[in-house]
Amino acid sequence: KQGSDLSIISKESVRATFPNREVTSHKGTFGTSLIVAGTDHMPGSAVLAAIGAIRSGTGKLVMATTDRVASVIASTVPEATFLLNGLERICQGHIPEKIVAAGIGPGIEASESVKKATEVLMESGIPLVVDAGAIQKRNNWKAKGPVILTPHPGEFSRLTGLSIEEIQANRIELARHYAMHHHVTVVLKGKYTVIAFPDGETYINPTGNSGLAKGGSGDVLTGMIVSMLATHDNYRDAVKNAVYVHGLCANIWSEKYSETSMVASDFHRLLPLALQRIE
Ligand code: APR
Ligand code: MG
Repeated sequence: KQGSDLSIISKESVRATFPNREVTSHKGTFGTSLIVAGTDHMPGSAVLAAIGAIRSGTGKLVMATTDRVASVIASTVPEATFLLNGLERICQGHIPEKIVAAGIGPGIEASESVKKATEVLMESGIPLVVDAGAIQKRNNWKAKGPVILTPHPGEFSRLTGLSIEEIQANRIELARHYAMHHHVTVVLKGKYTVIAFPDGETYINPTGNSGLAKGGSGDVLTGMIVSMLATHDNYRDAVKNAVYVHGLCANIWSEKYSETSMVASDFHRLLPLALQRIE
């Protein structure tokens, strides 16, 4: 521990809190995840979120998206099932049965319907990851379950009205302040991602490198957090473990290859290697 409530995530802590896969487990043991992602002009974000989720342990994955995006996802992640017209259906209050963790935002632009769908999910009490287009300024994030916001500095600027320079100069304190004030978890992304919980407990992630500074790596992280929320008993461990393992994938890549040429779809092959080092 450094100071009062600030720690660096360690590999030992990730290993100690990572769920065991009992020999008698079945797909129901690990829960069904729901991710609302993708529009016809940004199908890739939904594919990448699906890759992050399917490789991180969830028993089943439902992607809420458009017809066209669904067929793109199915070709890379055939394990996924779909809620078609997903955003509209969720706005109308339709949440598929047995969902134990959810995420919304990758590859979707901010709009009233995204805001509404986010509210429906917050009402449900299902742990919820709010990313990208679902990160919109609002007076309250009143929810029945944990809400995890995953802004990059630009999105955190949109949320707080502060400049990116102000944010980057004071990442830890600003993430913590927002988390405590709004009773949410803030994952402020970038080199040394900051994770601040609603009670002020704050963590710094030591893993990751410039191989992640590519469009789409944040979408993979969203899928990973949702999936780990589905498999972990404690949502805090799920968030910390997902952020740590996401960065570890990039570290493993750079043992053999150039950071310049890492791309987000490489997570499909990197997650099995990274998780092998944890379990
Ligand atoms: N060192 C360590 N980690 C890094 C670095 C670095 N130098 N650069 C980036 N990362 C990590 C971040 O911590 C984060 O986990 O890579 C990820 C980048 O996430 P985003 O900034 O969200 O980037 P991206 O996935 O490209 O976002 C595209 O965001 O704007 C929306 O709708 C858009 O869904 C799309 C998505
Ligand atoms: Mg992003």
